[in-house]
Amino acid sequence: MSMDPSKRTVLLTGAAGEIGHGLVHGLRSHDDIRIIATDLKEIPEETRSLCDEVHVGDVCDEGLMQQLIAMHEVTDIYHLAALLSTRAEHVPEVAHEVNVGGTWNLLKLAAAHSASHGESVRFVLPSTIAIYGLDGPEHKQRVGKVVEGEFNLPKTIYGANKLYCEHLGRYYSRHYRRLADDRGSARIDFRSLRLPGVIAAETKPTGGTSDYVPEMIHAAATGQPCVCFVRPTTRIPWMTMPECVQSLLDIGRMERDRMSQSVYNVASFSATAGEVADILRMHFPDARIEFEPDENRQAIVDSWPGDVDISCANTDWNYSPRWNLEEAFEHYIVPSIRTHYAQA
Ligand SMILES: NC(=O)c1ccc[n+]([C@@H]2O[C@H](COP(=O)([O-])OP(=O)(O)OC[C@H]3O[C@@H](n4cnc5c(N)ncnc54)[C@H](O)[C@@H]3O)[C@@H](O)[C@H]2O)c1
Repeated sequence: MSMDPSKRTVLLTGAAGEIGHGLVHGLRSHDDIRIIATDLKEIPEETRSLCDEVHVGDVCDEGLMQQLIAMHEVTDIYHLAALLSTRAEHVPEVAHEVNVGGTWNLLKLAAAHSASHGESVRFVLPSTIAIYGLDGPEHKQRVGKVVEGEFNLPKTIYGANKLYCEHLGRYYSRHYRRLADDRGSARIDFRSLRLPGVIAAETKPTGGTSDYVPEMIHAAATGQPCVCFVRPTTRIPWMTMPECVQSLLDIGRMERDRMSQSVYNVASFSATAGEVADILRMHFPDARIEFEPDENRQAIVDSWPGDVDISCANTDWNYSPRWNLEEAFEHYIVPSIRTHYAQA
């Protein structure tokens, strides 16, 4: 295959997922980039058409990932493939294999590729607020916004997997084979964002424990009743999908010397399930929302912070949210979801 050496080539895993869908569109707006997309599932046609190549396969498949990285001379990896928190809690051993094993597989192959080509490979990992572990609603309320170094005691396998992957990324980036004579030959440039709950108008989430808000929104927009699985007072941080995609693109393009750390909190607003329900009832007066907390899923959300401190991202790369809660509904969620279902 002929390659234009001036171009960067991105390998994007989890491309059939919610964020994958948004990120492919975001990356495509950069002409100077080749996109190699992969997922265990068939990638929807709309996303496929924006990619240079798509491959269906397992991120843990060493042979396939090695082939993709080497054949396409990959310069950047956006590693999105994962089992999310609810799904992972049902099958923790599989979650470990995919979430940790898949990340480790890619880091290892990227390091080998970097060593053989003499070029650094940039590696972007979406992490999560699930890496934090608080002791329930009162504790959440008491601590307020959490900073990156605090409460790194996840209470789910998903949070534990992601926290370890952050550590793996930092290790490969800064300390890989630190006692070996040729330790400098592999260069991984790792960065990660701890994402809050993400709200998309065009896609519906599955398998996450922050799904209750997107579920409420999609139900209200389609006139369906919705039973929310957490209490109305349950608070976590959120961002919209356009903001999520932009922040991943921004961290992916950031000059290394502007970054004082590898992992950053990002979020746009903090809101309770009840506040979201109230706003939805304003925009969709017929919305039928009931609250029937599921004790087990409630306990997971109760261990996540009510808000995150984003001052490091703000200081290092001028990160700031685009919308607050009301603006997110007014400027993105309501108009985009109406258009989405009108076209469906
Ligand atoms: N959506 C959120 O609210 C949120 C919040 C924090 C972090 N994240 C992180 O962002 C990333 C993307 O999340 P999403 O919301 O798009 O999730 P998603 O479930 O919609 O997408 C994940 C994709 O990974 C794929 N996948 C799973 N196992 C695989 C395997 N073994 N090999 C290859 N592909 C596999 C799935 O088929 C799916 O298409 C994940 O790493 C997730 O942990 C998401």
